[in-house]
Amino acid sequence: MKTSLTKSAIVTGASGGIGRVVAKRLASDGFAITVHYAGNPGKAEAVVAEINNAGGKAVAVQADVAKSADVERLFEETLKNLGSVDVVVNNAGIMPLSPISKGDVEVFDRVVNTNLRGTFLVLAQAAQHVASGGRIVALSSSVLAKSFPTYGAYIASKAGVEGLVHVLANELRGRNITVNAVAPGPVATELFLRGKSEEQLAEFTKMNPLERLGQPEDIANVISFLAGPEGGWVNSQVIRANGGFAY
Ligand SMILES: NC(=O)c1ccc[n+]([C@@H]2O[C@H](COP(=O)([O-])OP(=O)(O)OC[C@H]3O[C@@H](n4cnc5c(N)ncnc54)[C@H](OP(=O)(O)O)[C@@H]3O)[C@@H](O)[C@H]2O)c1
Repeated sequence: MKTSLTKSAIVTGASGGIGRVVAKRLASDGFAITVHYAGNPGKAEAVVAEINNAGGKAVAVQADVAKSADVERLFEETLKNLGSVDVVVNNAGIMPLSPISKGDVEVFDRVVNTNLRGTFLVLAQAAQHVASGGRIVALSSSVLAKSFPTYGAYIASKAGVEGLVHVLANELRGRNITVNAVAPGPVATELFLRGKSEEQLAEFTKMNPLERLGQPEDIANVISFLAGPEGGWVNSQVIRANGGFAY
């Protein structure tokens, strides 16, 4: 663990599978961390404890990313607790599946609210508060390239995320801030594993030529690179970290 905690990062959804590992990785890279969560304070506090026990600095902040007042408070509390916002990783997301033919607008609205509206609100605050030299990363998904049945709302929301990333990169011209998306393929977290049979998991595992599921560390490695000193020339890109699942 590096000791100079001069820079800070907000990781949304850091109570979840990928976000938890991203928060711990950025902490070990030397960032003070806001561990954001929505409904699982216990999981967020466990991540905070792991980071602080390893000699880093972290605080937990609750927010619904679909609510603008909550997202504003997330950034205000980070500035108050940690002094600056240098990196924002918008990782919070949900993936309930439903065929388009069913017309389940409740699922559609829920997915779009969290994944797309949430990203819009987090990127808006990031654009206002991230310091020069900062990095903004949003989570998309490699499933965009697959168009699997039942993924309509999720794919629509993540396509929107990719659109926002490219526009914001242009809007931040002159600020020395990069904006990128990371688009994982299947990663072994609750979001992906929930409701899948052994057969389905075996099928997904074989969909990439490396023949394994992604692990949160695979994604944290990419985000660490983008957030770190060597990632500064990568801007307005979608990095598909998926073992060859899709391009
Ligand atoms: N796992 C995959 O295969 C995969 C593949 C491609 C992309 N992704 C993307 O990677 C990101 C992380 O996924 P994951 O697999 O780590 O999922 P996960 O384990 O289910 O974690 C999801 C996180 O999002 C938070 N969250 C959910 N709804 C929220 C809301 N309304 N406001 C604020 N936070 C909310 C959860 O907070 P609480 O638990 O505190 O409620 C949790 O921390 C997502 O954007 C997902 O779409 C995942």
